[in-house]
This record gives sequence, C-alpha cells and structure tokens, in this order.
Amino acid sequence: MRILILHGPNLNLLGRREPEIYGRWTLAEIDEMLVNQAHKTNTELRIMQSNHEGVLIDAIHDAAVWGHGILINPGALTHYSYALRDAIAAVGLPTVEVHLSNIHAREEFRRQSVIAPVCVGQISGFGHHSYLLGLTALIDYLLR
Ligand code: DQA
Repeated sequence: MRILILHGPNLNLLGRREPEIYGRWTLAEIDEMLVNQAHKTNTELRIMQSNHEGVLIDAIHDAAVWGHGILINPGALTHYSYALRDAIAAVGLPTVEVHLSNIHAREEFRRQSVIAPVCVGQISGFGHHSYLLGLTALIDYLLR
C-alpha cells in the first residue's frame, strides 16, 4: 500500500512555530514517527511539505497514478482552498485530514474546513498524535 503524506504551508517551521499551540515536535520527527508506523504495516509513504498551493495540488494529481490514499495537514489552506479541495475530489483517493491543534476550539475562521467534506474523516487536536491516529485510520480504511 502506498500513501502520500502532505504537509501544507508553514508546517516546515514546526518545533519553533507557536509551540504552545503546535507542540515541540519538528516535522522531521513527525515524519520519522510515521515512517516507523508504516513499516509495521508494510505501507510505503511518500512525504512532501510545501508552502505553495499549486505544488500540493500537483502532488495530489501525481498520487492518482501511484498511490492508494492521502494523509494531509493542509495548514491554513484548510479554511479556504477550494482548489485543494477540488484536487482531492478529482483524484478520488481516500483522504484523511489531520491537524495538530483543535481547529474547532480556535478562532472563528479556523472552525471551518473546506477540505473535510471530500475526506474520509478529520482528526484534530492531538498534537503529533493526530498524524499517527490519521495514518492508522487511513490504513484501516484502505484495508476494509
Ligand atoms: C493547522 C491548523 C491551521 O489552522 C493552521 O493554519 C496551521 C496548522 C494544525 O495542524 O493545527 O497551519 O493545520
């Protein structure tokens, strides 16, 4: 099984970016955790972070050729990127949305996700564990 892990804008700064909200784990540490988990289930991960909407969209299009599912933290694009949402809907790959923080308990503009309606589900608020829970949920979904 092959899964695309996508990290959106500003997530390259994890570890030093508002750690009281996003925790102290770096993106590299999160990726390592995910790779370790994937090994246990014979899952291949391709991991990418970009600060550019179009690069994320291209990666989603490519995944239609090689992948079985997508785990994505779209960052702030969560709240307004119809283009990212359309890309996920277009390729039709089962997608799980994850957030480190609980977006529903934060500012008003963060409470809406335009991505969630085209996802299998959303996991939000468990820090770096959100990614682990999301990956496990996606793999379970793909094996069902
Ligand atoms: C985030 C929540 C978003 O609102 C924010 O813009 C991020 C990170 C999270 O993981 O909690 O960049 O997606």
